[in-house]
Amino acid sequence: MKVLGLSGSMRKEGNTALLIQKILEHVDAENCSEIETEFVSLSGMEILPCIGCEKCKEKKWCVIEKDDWGRIVDKVIDCDILIIGSPTYYYDVCGQLKNFIDRTYSLYHDRKLAGRNAVVVSVCADRGCERTLETLEGFVNTHEFSYLGFVAGKGYLPGDILNDPHAMPKAKEVAGKIIKMLRKDSKYIKNA
Ligand SMILES: Cc1cc2nc3c(=O)[nH]c(=O)nc-3n(C[C@H](O)[C@H](O)[C@H](O)COP(=O)(O)O)c2cc1C
Repeated sequence: MKVLGLSGSMRKEGNTALLIQKILEHVDAENCSEIETEFVSLSGMEILPCIGCEKCKEKKWCVIEKDDWGRIVDKVIDCDILIIGSPTYYYDVCGQLKNFIDRTYSLYHDRKLAGRNAVVVSVCADRGCERTLETLEGFVNTHEFSYLGFVAGKGYLPGDILNDPHAMPKAKEVAGKIIKMLRKDSKYIKNA
């Protein structure tokens, strides 16, 4: 069972990364050998925008092959649970993550991501987290993930999120849902 945390922030160790890592830490604390966690940041990656060519309808993959999108999306394809998060930029997801999401249109035609589970995460300094969550929910709903919940938090400078009195317990709560789901799933496999 693979749990992948994906931060779209250009700050490698920023608030979004820290909040996603908190969830992963709680999952890791279960010490369950069947659960494997991984964290990936889009910071420093080249993720070009979708060019709207529609060639992916035939190819079932994005025609842009010379950037980092393919190797990151392979990890998404390979995971059971995706924790996808973004900082709030102008009341919405940041550009780097939006480029990443738009390119997954190429996986939509044959519903390549359907059946996985997802948690969405957003951070803002003051306002706009809700729309960021909605955009992320639009992504997971469109791709037919099962929705496990969200964590939203407030922070401005990197590290601020760790002092958010609401986000930290919410991260633990969502991690609990992930663990419960994975346990149920592995029980199902064992009993099958
Ligand atoms: C270009 C830009 C736009 C932003 N827009 C908003 C916004 O609309 N609302 C808000 O509350 N904070 C906004 N912020 C602040 C960030 O959301 C905040 O600093 C957040 O903690 C960044 O997360 P990160 O450390 O994961 O990158 C903006 C920051 C930048 C750089």
